[in-house]
Amino acid sequence: MSSSDQIESLLKEGRVFEPNPDFAAQAHVKSAAEREELTRAAREDPEKFWAGIAGDLHWFEPWSEVLEWKVPFAKWFVGGKTNIAYNCIDRHCESWRRNKAAIIWEGEPGDSRVLTFADLQREVSKCANVLKGMGVEKGDRVGVYMPMIPELAITILACARIGATHSVVFGGFSSDALRDRMNDAEAKVVVTADGGFRRGGVVDLKVNVDKAIDECPTVESVLVVRRTDSKVAWKEGRDVWWHDRMAEADDVCPAEPLDAEHPLFILYTSGTTGKPKGVVHTTGGYMVHTYATSRWVFDLKDEDTYFCSADIGWVTGHSYLVYGILANGATSVMYEGAPNYPEPDRFWQIIDKYGVSIFYTAPTAIRSFIKWGSEWPRKYRLDRLRLLGTVGEPINPEAWMWYHREIGHERCPIVDTWWQTETGGILVTPFPGATPTKPGSATLPIPGLEMEVVDKDGNKVGANQGGFLVIRRPWPGMMRTIYKDPERFKQQYWSQVEGSYFTGDGARQDEDGYFWIMGRVDDVMNVSGHRLGTMEVESALVGHEAVAEAAVVGRPDEVTGQAIEAFVSLEGHHQASDELAEELRKHVAKEIGSFAKPAKIRFADALPKTRSGKIMRRLLRDIASGKETVGDTTTLEDLSVLAKLRDDEE
Ligand code: PRX
Repeated sequence: MSSSDQIESLLKEGRVFEPNPDFAAQAHVKSAAEREELTRAAREDPEKFWAGIAGDLHWFEPWSEVLEWKVPFAKWFVGGKTNIAYNCIDRHCESWRRNKAAIIWEGEPGDSRVLTFADLQREVSKCANVLKGMGVEKGDRVGVYMPMIPELAITILACARIGATHSVVFGGFSSDALRDRMNDAEAKVVVTADGGFRRGGVVDLKVNVDKAIDECPTVESVLVVRRTDSKVAWKEGRDVWWHDRMAEADDVCPAEPLDAEHPLFILYTSGTTGKPKGVVHTTGGYMVHTYATSRWVFDLKDEDTYFCSADIGWVTGHSYLVYGILANGATSVMYEGAPNYPEPDRFWQIIDKYGVSIFYTAPTAIRSFIKWGSEWPRKYRLDRLRLLGTVGEPINPEAWMWYHREIGHERCPIVDTWWQTETGGILVTPFPGATPTKPGSATLPIPGLEMEVVDKDGNKVGANQGGFLVIRRPWPGMMRTIYKDPERFKQQYWSQVEGSYFTGDGARQDEDGYFWIMGRVDDVMNVSGHRLGTMEVESALVGHEAVAEAAVVGRPDEVTGQAIEAFVSLEGHHQASDELAEELRKHVAKEIGSFAKPAKIRFADALPKTRSGKIMRRLLRDIASGKETVGDTTTLEDLSVLAKLRDDEE
């Protein structure tokens, strides 16, 4: 494990923050003893434990078996029939919550919209009928490539309502990335918008869709929301306007009773090798997991106004802006644009304007806030905030302390939540009224989760020893497979340590059993809290005519956690230059999206490889980070390559 320096710096962190007694007194889980009791009950009989929670929700038909486990394939609530959109909407429409705000939306230009649960029921039902009218049937895949507007939440809930499997592609991805994902998912319909607002400009989503869909044979039609009023190209017979169809649509569409294992969504995530993986999540287990964790971790109450700053294009937006939050009948705030538009105070302005009580964001965002200065949040009333959360990467203690002081006013607990696209929901986290927190640690696994730090043979290591983070038993929200590739699922997640789920993260457990995540043990990069595989960026680079070979690595970055550095060797007749470096960076932005743009391009005559021809990114990582090479170099084919790269550095 190459993260030894990180372990040391974290070890210096000795501060412990006990839960605030006032918070604890009103919390769903009020003490460490109460959490331990839940954990004990879940350990003793996990199936009974999860079934108890599932019982809070609506099922059209009960399950016959809580868990069927044939390693590595799990089925939860076998035979049960439910609908997550029903549980997020209709269940509340039957209660006093009918006219409660479900979604409060703020557009980047300053427009806003509030949808009550009853509004959401009408809009989602209409959208479901529109999709049906376009030929979408249960089991079909619907691609979603949209800005952060209410129609995005409406679309995914409409898919869930009729049993269509949605596949959301983050609006920052390029047309090529969209094309590849739509083709892998074999989407029948794509829902998009004419454009989206971002930092005062317009993102031309429809232009990207037009380009992508020309090469997507399965896509029959495109549903387009008008948002920016941009001029768009129109393909008659394929493109339809959202507002035209919605105006005619019936606002009643009963939620379809779906098998608990019916696929709810596919979300693509990066690996080190091969194309992006279509992570498949199903209905019942995912619903129970996101419902339960939203309640435990965010302590949701009916009085709360909850704001998650993630985009629905990532898993955090799926689980903790839409599904888990609405399943609890809570009010979810959704913001369309950039945190620093028009000024670097937009989140604080939103928190003040809507009286947000719970705020969930990413460490990379917090580091930007620090850089922009404490004067921005100080201009606003943040006194309704009672709980703060983070996700996406380890939070450095300094950022934790700033968040605690400047946003939480030393009053709000902070929940540092560890999880992954694959895990569906939060797995390691404090419970805000129960768990003493240590800045930089996500603390303890949720009840029912058997998590360990092990060595390469799968043996548990001792306290404060680094190792691989694995999970020994299935949990309800776990991914079920990689779309169309169960073999890859088995091989990538369940065969590194036989019979256990391999997270790909390194970690250690301290003497109190707290987990400290040390980052990825593979080559996957984490930029701004999002995982990016090396393969996509490298193949974009190699796709440029000047490039012979490329290898990318993550190096530490103050704001984004990691920044991408690319090592590039050129085709014979091309010369290295600053202009070419800039061109290559732009090329990656065009091929994948600007969030994947390398921070730096280094030209090299050759890249370090093993005798079998595999690029040794770990060595490049050391160079990019300005570190000595500490690891084993005996498998390196040509040692001089490394020396040469280092010389170039000097
Ligand atoms: O390395 C861990 C890091 O983010 C990875 C998961 O990335 P992704 O699937 O994009 O999902 C991000 C949002 C759930 C993990 O393998 N990570 C996530 N949360 C934390 C974290 N690392 C440390 N602490 C966290 N709280």
